[in-house]
Amino acid sequence: MSDDIVNLEVDGKPVEGRRGQMIIEVTDEVGAYVPRFCYHGKLSVAANCRMCLVEVEKAPKPIPACATPIGEGMKVFTKSAKAIAAQKATMEFLQLTLAALVTDRAIQRVVDQQEFHHRTLRLFGVVGTGADFHAVHYRRGAGG
Ligand code: FES
Repeated sequence: MSDDIVNLEVDGKPVEGRRGQMIIEVTDEVGAYVPRFCYHGKLSVAANCRMCLVEVEKAPKPIPACATPIGEGMKVFTKSAKAIAAQKATMEFLQLTLAALVTDRAIQRVVDQQEFHHRTLRLFGVVGTGADFHAVHYRRGAGG
């Protein structure tokens, strides 16, 4: 047996990997899919998204499969309750972050449009102050 061969378990099945491989490479080879966003086999490992968290026996918390090298005797769980909970938590965090970004942009867009509207009305001498703007705007029934 070569020194380059590493014996480990993925979801309870014995697997052989090559020294230096990351967990995600081995799980891909044996068909145990691990979700990921920032990992690609042809790019350097960024390990930014934390979507690929898996449970590893004796590890205190889930670890990123894309940035963790395999080890002899390692037991990896890609679908355990702990792994799924970690992946879901990451997904929820990313969704909230994305929602906040979209909401911020939407609010900024409304503010920008109102500012543009106000400046245009002032340019044509329709209104002079913010109060005038709102008075004219609402009187016309244009809403907020
Ligand atoms: S795939 Fe993004 S941290 Fe692993």
